[in-house]
Amino acid sequence: SPTEPDVRRGLNGVVADTTAVSKVDPESNSLLYRGYPVQDLAATQPFEAVAHLLWHGELPTADELADLRAAEREHRALDDAVRSAMDLLPTDAHPMDDVRTALSVLGGRDAAGTELLDLADPTATLQHAVPLYAALPAVVTYAQRRRRGLDAVPPRDDLDHAANTLWMTFGEEPDATVVDAFNRSMILYAEHSFNASTFTARVVASTLSDVHSAVVAAVGALKGPLHGGANEAVMHAFAEIGSADRAAAWLDEALAAKRKVMGFGHRVYKRGDSRVPTMKGALDSLVAHYDRQDLADLYDALESAFVERKGIYPNLDYPAGPAYHLMGFDTETFTPLFVAARVTGWTAHVAEQQSSNALIRPLSAYVGHERREIPQP
Ligand code: SDX
Repeated sequence: SPTEPDVRRGLNGVVADTTAVSKVDPESNSLLYRGYPVQDLAATQPFEAVAHLLWHGELPTADELADLRAAEREHRALDDAVRSAMDLLPTDAHPMDDVRTALSVLGGRDAAGTELLDLADPTATLQHAVPLYAALPAVVTYAQRRRRGLDAVPPRDDLDHAANTLWMTFGEEPDATVVDAFNRSMILYAEHSFNASTFTARVVASTLSDVHSAVVAAVGALKGPLHGGANEAVMHAFAEIGSADRAAAWLDEALAAKRKVMGFGHRVYKRGDSRVPTMKGALDSLVAHYDRQDLADLYDALESAFVERKGIYPNLDYPAGPAYHLMGFDTETFTPLFVAARVTGWTAHVAEQQSSNALIRPLSAYVGHERREIPQP
């Protein structure tokens, strides 16, 4: 009937607002950050420059990049209070729980970071974004190290953001091939319009809460396997499958059991994810570097079997999972690495929400009981 509301479950297909941060175009399988194709940014830019681009709308000048790098270095070291808070969690806690806890403590430590958003001053949000983005590598790398019973590694001022993250994880000078692949992954993970975690951050921002609260909420949304958690789930699937020759049979069983195959499918892209070719290129360079053709064969076997049976293509998490595995990260730290990248997009969106705010509060169609009386005792 004409009075029945048009319910779009999961907000599927709903255009909720405008954004100038990124353009996801499923028709041309392309992704632009502030107008620049993401594959071109990944091939030419350090992650820091992309962070600046997402926040300010333009690539940084040499001076602006130097300023951002200097500011980032000031906040790189693991804060003692943050480390102590992380140590309150059991060592087998999920590292996403470590990250969520650490970010909450960081917010509480920086009184300005938990000031309510001021509609007149979105640039304040961007100022709080820098220490947040700068502190995350220390948090994520310590989340991995304490699981392994290791101490935190102090940051190195002579290394850029990507290389320093690898240094703080492994305490070894990272190889150039690995740094390049890691930098690409950070850029590809940085931003993707109104995905679930970014939308969560915007919902929180729309109430004029604070930046840290928006980011902590976004971390919660990213943790789930239908979203960021998929990159680690890919590695769990690879471990179950074992080798390329078993991929098709494993897939048939998974599909028969109606299991979701993580790392495949996407709400927006239906003919492949614009970021996959770039990340697959980075994975290929790691496969050659570590001499792990067996992993590439398994990757190809599962992908072709899935495309053949269901016509469903990989998303970014499919190549990113095995790439992080080859670099030596524990599987559980893959989604925290996604946080370290996506914090740039989240905060850019918080500032955008703030600059033209409308409280996000949709309607629901009630399907419960009609009005009724409380039974008499
Ligand atoms: C990210 O939104 C973003 O931009 C997210 C992201 C970002 O950068 O922020 O790109 C990052 O979250 C990537 C997605 C990571 N998630 C996974 O890899 C989990 C596995 N994928 C799926 O569960 C699924 O494809 C979603 C959740 C990603 C998208 O789901 P939709 O849009 O709600 O679609 P759907 O689940 O309704 O699927 C449509 C059909 C279904 O079959 P039918 O019921 O119509 O027969 O396709 C099937 C699904 O069962 N399908 C899958 C599948 N993906 C889709 N079947 C098995 N395995 C899959 N992976």
